[in-house]
Amino acid sequence: MGKIKKIGILTSGGDCAGLNAVIRAVVNCATRKGWTVYGIRFGTDGLTSRPLQYEILTPENFSDTPWPRLSGSYLGSLNSGVKLESVKNLSKNFGDGARELGLDALIVVGGDGSMNIVSNYCHLAGIKMVGIPKTIDNDTPITDSSVGFDTACQVCTEALDSLILTARSHNRAIILEVMGRDAGHLALHSAIAGMADVCLVPEIPYKIDSIIKKLKEVKKTGRNYALIVAAEGIKREDGRHVSSSQNKIGEKVYGGVGQYLSDEINRRCKEFQTRVTTLGHTQRSGNPTSTDRVLAARFGVRAIELLEAGHTNRMVVLKSNTIKDYDIDEVVKVGTKRLDLKSDYITAARATGMYIGEEIPTKKA
Ligand code: F6P
Repeated sequence: MGKIKKIGILTSGGDCAGLNAVIRAVVNCATRKGWTVYGIRFGTDGLTSRPLQYEILTPENFSDTPWPRLSGSYLGSLNSGVKLESVKNLSKNFGDGARELGLDALIVVGGDGSMNIVSNYCHLAGIKMVGIPKTIDNDTPITDSSVGFDTACQVCTEALDSLILTARSHNRAIILEVMGRDAGHLALHSAIAGMADVCLVPEIPYKIDSIIKKLKEVKKTGRNYALIVAAEGIKREDGRHVSSSQNKIGEKVYGGVGQYLSDEINRRCKEFQTRVTTLGHTQRSGNPTSTDRVLAARFGVRAIELLEAGHTNRMVVLKSNTIKDYDIDEVVKVGTKRLDLKSDYITAARATGMYIGEEIPTKKA
């Protein structure tokens, strides 16, 4: 690859805290090398639609402005669901757009779905890219963590801390429904940090009777309140999803399982009244934590270093607190990262008394 002069950066998929800190890191680092940075607006839409939607970014956009300290995406993002078939049709526009701007490479800040879609665009259009993982779900594979996850955990933990106050005033078990799609990372981390009594995740089957047993145990200890964390992606006890909503391309839209649990527990358990709190999109818009801001800076700078060294089609990753990089096709091949049932997070939850679903018997060798 020739010497880099111009790069583009776009954010893709659901927004989260820390995206602007990533953009700032990329812009500051790249412009110090004499490169020009084009901020592509609204994800891939900025390159596929006409007129092109972009803005040349300079350090001034992010110095003495609140932007890098805020969540959301300064550039806007695209989260409307894109089918791989439409990528084929739009890839010419995408490539022409990137060439019209004279981009030598593209930095894509996205989750596992976006890495798949945008790397396909780039392959088809012959554009070089480096990916930076972000998602509150922490389900992007290979990397230990993604930008935005820590802040979302903080939002959920603070919610649990405040919910105990009202729960104890009214002898209630409060169910906090959190996001995370088909992975239980956000639910489990928040439940451990918020010291919940029950945590239900999509990876582990549960029984309402077992939840009630746990609630009775709590009551016996003399405590008159309890906290239950439910991941939005869990199913009803009978294995069906509560919501049948779908997005434009037929992917499930989750939400509502907290109310189902509340109704079931209320009906079958006399020890506690239940109530539900659904945090929804506030989980994506908390004040970026120091952990997310630092990760954003480390990822952003490594992405620039990779481009400078001529390494593309890579995604930066965090591995044992060291920044590394990985082939994007491999990342896409692995697919969604779900909870590792053998991890010490599960052990820590169970060993501290939390009910996190039924023990899955391990196969005898
Ligand atoms: O992937 C991030 C996420 O916030 C999921 O946790 C959630 O299911 C989904 O996005 C919600 O997306 P939307 O913004 O389309 O409602």
